Amino acid sequence: MSVTIKKVNSDTELKAVAELAGIIWHECFTDIISEGQIDYMVEKFQSYKAMTKQIIEQDYSYFAVREDEELCGYIGVKPEKDDRFFLSKLYLRSDRRGRGIASQMLKKVFEEAKSYGKERVYLTVNKHNEHAISVYLRTGFEIADKVVTDIGNGYVMDDYIMEYTI
Ligand SMILES: CC(C)(COP(=O)(O)OP(=O)(O)OC[C@H]1O[C@@H](n2cnc3c(N)ncnc32)[C@H](O)[C@@H]1OP(=O)(O)O)[C@@H](O)C(=O)NCCC(=O)NCCS
Repeated sequence: MSVTIKKVNSDTELKAVAELAGIIWHECFTDIISEGQIDYMVEKFQSYKAMTKQIIEQDYSYFAVREDEELCGYIGVKPEKDDRFFLSKLYLRSDRRGRGIASQMLKKVFEEAKSYGKERVYLTVNKHNEHAISVYLRTGFEIADKVVTDIGNGYVMDDYIMEYTI
C-alpha cells in the first residue's frame, strides 16, 4: 500500500473532502450522537462552505489522505497564537482503519506543528469516542481538561481536551 498525505490546494479537492466527511461522520458517530446532531455538525463544521471559511478566515489547513491514490481520510489543523497547534480533524474511512495509516497521519500533524515552531498539539474528542481516545493516549496525548460546548440548535459537544507535548 502507498499512503500519501498532501495539503488540499484546490476547490475540487476540498469538495471531495467535504463529501468524505459526510460519509465518515455518518458511519462513526451514530452510536455517540443523534443523526440530527451529525447532520447539524457536518453542515456547520465540515461542509465545503464551512471549511472554505475556516481556511480563509481562521488559518486552517486541510490535508487529504490517500491510499493507492484513493481519498480515504483527512486532517484539519490550525496554528494558535500561543505555542499550541490545534488538531481539529483526524478522520479515516472505516475500511482503511487499523492498518497504520492513523499513525502516519499523526506524524504529519506533529511535523506541521514543528514547522510552525509550536510546542504543543491539542484536540477535543467526544468523551464517548473510546477508540479515538485510546489511539491518542497510545500516541502520547494526555487528557488535560474537559469542556462542554454549546454549538446551537439545542446541541452540545461533551469533550475531553487532550494535549501532546512535542
Ligand atoms: C481516529 C482514527 C483516525 C484512528 O485510526 P485507526 O486506523 O482506527 O487507528 P489504528 O487502529 O491504526 O490505531 C492507531 C494506533 O493506536 C493503537 N491503538 C488503537 N487502539 C488501541 C487501544 N485500544 N489501546 C492501545 N493502543 C491502541 C494502534 O495499535 C495504532 O498504533 P500503531 O500504528 O503503532 O500500531 C479512526 O479510527 C477514525 O477516523 N475514527 C473515526 C473518526 C474519529 O473518531 N476521529 C477522531 C475525532 S477526535
